[in-house]
Amino acid sequence: MLDTDLNEIADGIRDLAPELEGRHLLLTGGRGFLGRYFTAALARLNADVFAKPMTIDVVDNLITAGAEGSRDENPPHTSFIRHDITQPLELRRTPDFILHAAGIASPFYYRAYPLETLEVAVTGTRRMLELAREARARILFFSSSEIYGDPDPRAVPILESYRGNVSCQGPRACYDESKRLGETLCYIFHDRFGVSVSTVRPFNVYGPGMQESDYRVLPNFASRLKARQPLHVYGRGNQTRTFCYVTDAIIGFIRALVKGVPGEAYNIGNPEPEVSMLDLVKEIEAVLGRPVDYTLATYPDSYPADEPQRRCPDIRKARLQLGYHPRIPLREGLRRFLGWADGIYTGKL
Ligand SMILES: NC(=O)c1ccc[n+]([C@@H]2O[C@H](COP(=O)([O-])OP(=O)(O)OC[C@H]3O[C@@H](n4cnc5c(N)ncnc54)[C@H](O)[C@@H]3O)[C@@H](O)[C@H]2O)c1
Repeated sequence: MLDTDLNEIADGIRDLAPELEGRHLLLTGGRGFLGRYFTAALARLNADVFAKPMTIDVVDNLITAGAEGSRDENPPHTSFIRHDITQPLELRRTPDFILHAAGIASPFYYRAYPLETLEVAVTGTRRMLELAREARARILFFSSSEIYGDPDPRAVPILESYRGNVSCQGPRACYDESKRLGETLCYIFHDRFGVSVSTVRPFNVYGPGMQESDYRVLPNFASRLKARQPLHVYGRGNQTRTFCYVTDAIIGFIRALVKGVPGEAYNIGNPEPEVSMLDLVKEIEAVLGRPVDYTLATYPDSYPADEPQRRCPDIRKARLQLGYHPRIPLREGLRRFLGWADGIYTGKL
């Protein structure tokens, strides 16, 4: 993680300090990409911003946390509990906030672990909602932009009210359908029991800290660049995505945790630019200042077919209700990420 990035996050949520300092947070999936970022960002806030430290219980069963996440490093005021959240969880301290980020997020891994993917989003979410109900804690559920499936092009950029075009069968269903059911559980717990739960739907977050073996597109490209091998662009390369730099996303998530309207879901992403995978290669060339080789590759068996053709958020709701304003342009984010990955990745995927 980059020092400047942690400072940017601290600046982006400084106004929320009075609501967070001195409180206790439960962070599920805390050894994954976003979880480790939360831990580092909150450690920075504890050191530089909060008058009284926030304490954090990090929970993760390490199923996809890899070497990075399995390292036993806890900043001050943070403790780690190795635990599968689909099973009952005993805590020593009652949380004021729950960031429920546990999940199996990379298509490569949900192809490998379909039942675990479904269970963590459904049973795991139900357990966290029950815990929030007992503790009267505010909880943020990490859903996904994948709940929109393969959207009708007329619905893009996608509003939170778009109902999606999703299949309940096929290799992606374990992820997108279980995240949808997770959202339904949030709706029920808010509607029936008054639980203060909001949901975020992240759109392709990237940045330093992503594991090389994550298998999402940017770590894949960065690993191939390191190995000086041509990039593999799956399919015809005209499928589009938007990419949200991790500092912008973390600020959005923390703002949603504190300011999210209970019962509501928020798109968190950066709507500009919407790029095809071939455009993304050109953006990387612009950042590196040199041509980059690539080949169009058929989808490997390890990658779930049926991928959405377009993905671009409408973020007006998060702007208005959360004060969320993504700031890092794609080229700047790529410069930071590729520079970091070049120093860390081995190119031996
Ligand atoms: N990063 C993104 O662009 C993105 C996009 C959409 C949705 N999300 C969602 O945000 C959350 C965090 O994403 P990420 O990129 O950090 O994912 P990640 O895969 O890097 O981290 C998730 C962590 O959850 C842990 N986990 C999985 N099942 C668990 C269980 N049963 N009990 C305890 N821990 C468990 C894993 O070991 C891993 O460390 C996930 O729920 C993901 O679905 C992320």
